[in-house]
Formats: sequence, structure tokens, C-alpha cells
Amino acid sequence: MPERFVTQTIHDKTLDVSLRPSAFADFAGQAKVKERLELAVEAAKLRKESLDHILLSGPPGLGKTTLAHILAKAMGANVIVTSGPVIEKAGDLAGLLTKLEAGDVLFIDEVHRLQKTVEEYLYPAMEDFRLDIVIDQGPNARSVKLQLPRFTLVGATTRSGLLTSPMRSRFGLTERLDYYNADDLARIITRAARILNVDIAPTGAMEIARRSRGTPRIANNLLKRCRDYAQVKANSATITADIADKALAMLEIDEHGLDEMDKRILETLVHKFGGKPVGVNSLAVAVGEEPDTIEEVYEPFLIMEGYLKRTPQGRVPTELTYKKLGVATPRPGELF
Ligand SMILES: Nc1ncnc2c1ncn2[C@@H]1O[C@H](COP(=O)(O)OP(=O)(O)O)[C@@H](O)[C@H]1O
Ligand SMILES: [Mg+2]
Repeated sequence: MPERFVTQTIHDKTLDVSLRPSAFADFAGQAKVKERLELAVEAAKLRKESLDHILLSGPPGLGKTTLAHILAKAMGANVIVTSGPVIEKAGDLAGLLTKLEAGDVLFIDEVHRLQKTVEEYLYPAMEDFRLDIVIDQGPNARSVKLQLPRFTLVGATTRSGLLTSPMRSRFGLTERLDYYNADDLARIITRAARILNVDIAPTGAMEIARRSRGTPRIANNLLKRCRDYAQVKANSATITADIADKALAMLEIDEHGLDEMDKRILETLVHKFGGKPVGVNSLAVAVGEEPDTIEEVYEPFLIMEGYLKRTPQGRVPTELTYKKLGVATPRPGELF
């Protein structure tokens, strides 16, 4: 298989290899999602069938890729990793599909970014395990029908709203991952600390957990930064709550876990746009970030925490935002 089809980000290779749980038992939180997926695995194994196609959605860093690997491992199957944008033509897809063995998991990350033409070839492959492709062009064009082994497509998306409905309807199971609560994140941090061989006080783990934007990937990253701080600046073998607090303050992560960009977005809404509704593109230009990143990464958390509202006219700050920035909330009449 050509190298470019199998994409593992650098991130996956460095930070995550050892921290990424490889079994459901080590996957903290998301109890309902886990229960449904484990049930699907058990049932498929009992019937000696392949697993139904599964769609995993949710903001980045919540465990979609991790779950895809856990699912494959639990099924005793191989996993082939690719992503929507790298499958450029139907031939690329055929190359991937024809390499699969029965039961294998094909993991397509960013599945909402598949080309329309590729998507259309995927439908019969998902539904009937059949591939009809046209080879060559002009007078030499011929259609080739291939029967495929019964594989499992696991799709991941940060933007389930952008998935076409024919695509969505071909997944047997659709699971949405939510931001993690602090207790679950503290468990993830404690486990990661053990793997990294760092000592952390329970209150230290909780401090990092509360300030990780509900996201395991961020929690693991912050743990590493706190470890650096403990060793170099605090000369301490243990990450205490106090050390975590100082390390996070140095990273400009506030006590609610908002980072620099979060704060910049809120300040822009309040100060630059005066609380009036703002479209995502204008907001993106004003803060110097990609509109997609605003929508996928920043907004969902700010909305969940109650700092931002999406209205048909645009994004607006909330009372909580004004309070946080120490600005008087404008009365409705003052906005326009
Ligand atoms: N439920 C979890 N329990 C423990 N660690 C997790 C969990 N979810 C995610 N992680 C950690 O966070 C990292 C990012 O998760 P990942 O699966 O790559 O997220 P996504 O694919 O949704 O962006 C993983 O490598 C793993 O270390
Ligand atoms: Mg991923």
C-alpha cells in the first residue's frame, strides 16, 4: 500500500503511543458510549460476524482514534488507518478496500472530508461489500465488480453536521463523545503519570483535570508541562496542586481552563464587537485563527461552559463572559 494512504500524525507517534489506552478497561469516562460499543463487540464476536460500521463524532482529543484502535483490538482484527482528505480518487479507495481481510477495521479519520465521488463508491462497499469501479477512460473504459470481505468502517469526525445524510445513514452505530468531567480526567492523568513515571498528588491531578478543557489530549499535555515545571522550577519529585497551579499559570491557562485563544475570542466579542452578533469568519479574522478551528475546537467548549451563544445572527457573549472580563453587561437596548 502506498505510504500516503496510511496516515499517522506525528502527534500520534510521539505523545500518544504509550499513553493511549489499548483496551476498554483503560478507557476512562464516556460510560454510555463504552457500554454500547462493548456490547456491539461482544455480540459480533458471539455471532462470529464483523462489527457494524461505526461513526464516532466529537471535538478533537476526546478519544475517537483511541476507540477505533480499541475496537479493532477487541475484535482481534487489523486496523488500517487513513483519513478523508488523503483518499483522492476512487482508485485510492479501491486500493485500500482490496487489501482488507474479513473483520478488519478501516478507520477513516475526518470522514466528513471525503470527496463526493469517493463517497459514492463507498456506499455499496459499506452496504453490500461490493465495489463497482470504472477503470480507464474513453473506449477502454470498463466496469469491474469486486466482492469485498466483510470489513468494518469506523469513521471519525469533528463535524458530524458536515456529513452527508446518505453517508451517515450507512453507519449502524453512531456515537458522540462529550467533554470529560474533572473526575474522569483526573483518572486519566493519574494513569498517564504512572506510565510516565511521575509522582502526582491527587489534588495535583485534580488541578490539571479542572483546567484541561474537558479533553484527555490536553490533560496529558498539561501533565507533561507540569512535570517539567516540577523538575526544573520547583525542584520537586511530586506534582502538587500548588506546582500544577503555578505551571498552568505560566502557560496562561486560567483557573477555569480557558487558554489564551479562548480568552482572545471572548475579549474580541466583548471589546471589539461590543457584544453584537458576529459571524464566524469575522471572528476568525479578528482573532487570527482559522474559522474551522474556531468552530471545531474553541466554540464547542465555550458554548458548553456558557461563555458563548450561537444565534442565527452570529456569536454573542453571555452574561458570564461579561462577568469574567469584569465588564458591565450591556442592556439589550445598548447593543444596537
Ligand atoms: N477515555 C480516555 N482514557 C484515557 N486516555 C484517553 C481517553 N481518550 C483519549 N485519551 C488520550 O488522549 C489522546 C487523544 O485521543 P485521540 O483518540 O487521539 O482523540 P481524537 O481522535 O478524538 O482526536 C489519546 O492518545 C490518549 O492518550
Ligand atoms: Mg484522532
